[in-house]
Amino acid sequence: MPLHIILQSDITASALSIASLKKRAERLLRLLSLEHSDLSIVLMNDAEMSAFNSRYRNRKGPTNVLSFPARDDAEALPFAIPGNELGDILISVETADREATLAGKSLNERLIELIVHGLLHLLGHDHERSEEEASAMWDQEQKLLDKLNQFGRNTMAHLAINVDHVATIREARGTSEPDPVLAAGICELAGASGIVVHLREDRRHIKDRDLRLLRQTVKTKLNLEMAAAREVIAIALETGPDMITLVPEKRQELTTEGGLDVVRNHKKIEKAIEKMRRAGIPVSLFIDPEEKQIKAAREVGATFVELHTGRYCDSVTDEARDHEFNLIAESAATAAAEGLRVNAGHGLDYRNTPRVAALETIEELSIGHAVISRAVFVGLDQAVREMLALLRPPFPGH
Ligand code: PXP
Repeated sequence: MPLHIILQSDITASALSIASLKKRAERLLRLLSLEHSDLSIVLMNDAEMSAFNSRYRNRKGPTNVLSFPARDDAEALPFAIPGNELGDILISVETADREATLAGKSLNERLIELIVHGLLHLLGHDHERSEEEASAMWDQEQKLLDKLNQFGRNTMAHLAINVDHVATIREARGTSEPDPVLAAGICELAGASGIVVHLREDRRHIKDRDLRLLRQTVKTKLNLEMAAAREVIAIALETGPDMITLVPEKRQELTTEGGLDVVRNHKKIEKAIEKMRRAGIPVSLFIDPEEKQIKAAREVGATFVELHTGRYCDSVTDEARDHEFNLIAESAATAAAEGLRVNAGHGLDYRNTPRVAALETIEELSIGHAVISRAVFVGLDQAVREMLALLRPPFPGH
């Protein structure tokens, strides 16, 4: 797609992710059926933007975005502009960064808003002409941003069910019922494409016996969640799950609380991944949706990242939820652009899942608590089928 992102000068904003920005800008062009058009997005600093602002608008100081349509004075030009040339959008990253901080948004989120705004100008909208036009342009901007954030996919994300909670109920009585191995079979029959268990160092729910039997019975894909600790690494190598997901583990926590700090535990994680690589077991790293963790995950040789959706799921205001969702959307795009495969999970339920499932770069969602809780009332088969229905396109808002 002829979309160019040009860095006018050295831009040092650490949160700037060109790969993710490009993906989302390309998606924006597709939404407007402009995928065959030429568009340049030029990122610059305040001083450079001030020069453009003064030269072309006679205004002092920087502004956030300026659009230069290719066809504006086309007749006066001594050459013909190709029909698919949209023009240039100039953005000051420094101004965008200040605005993002003030609004509590990420830099990329603000840049996307400015790209949408700039593109609508290129397409002939002008909020300065009249109040009606301003309101129409604002509506159009919101619609496009909503669509961008919930971009529909044609393929369905896979659903992997975490059956730890079945074992937790069993352990409440210390008997053999209910059996997570049986639960896994029911989940698979209902359509789940994977089974996840976390073999904790303290064995508070899933036991070695469960893992052994699951390895023999799971027909889809067995994903073993574990800490990068010597004892469990040996068990994983011996059992041979289809993949493992490395998670941080603290004795006192009720469930996995935060993502792995791959940046700080680079060596240890790299070593564990190397051992798994030799055994042919792909490794996923459970990380918070942060660019530095994604980059580190690629550096240590992970095949997948699983983006921690906990902060999105736990958000109590719409603003906070939107902010956290945008971080997941951006991180999923960044991770895919880095060549990583992307899963997501933690805290997903029957309300907050569709929005995440609509993100096209997410391959699989790992869900436990919500499905097992619902199963108590409607049965496990039904609970899995209901969750699967939420993963099926089209998604709300499309
Ligand atoms: N992904 C990981 C890495 C987890 O640790 C857990 C919780 O065990 C989940 C997904 C599933 O979270 P939930 O039970 O909240 O659906």
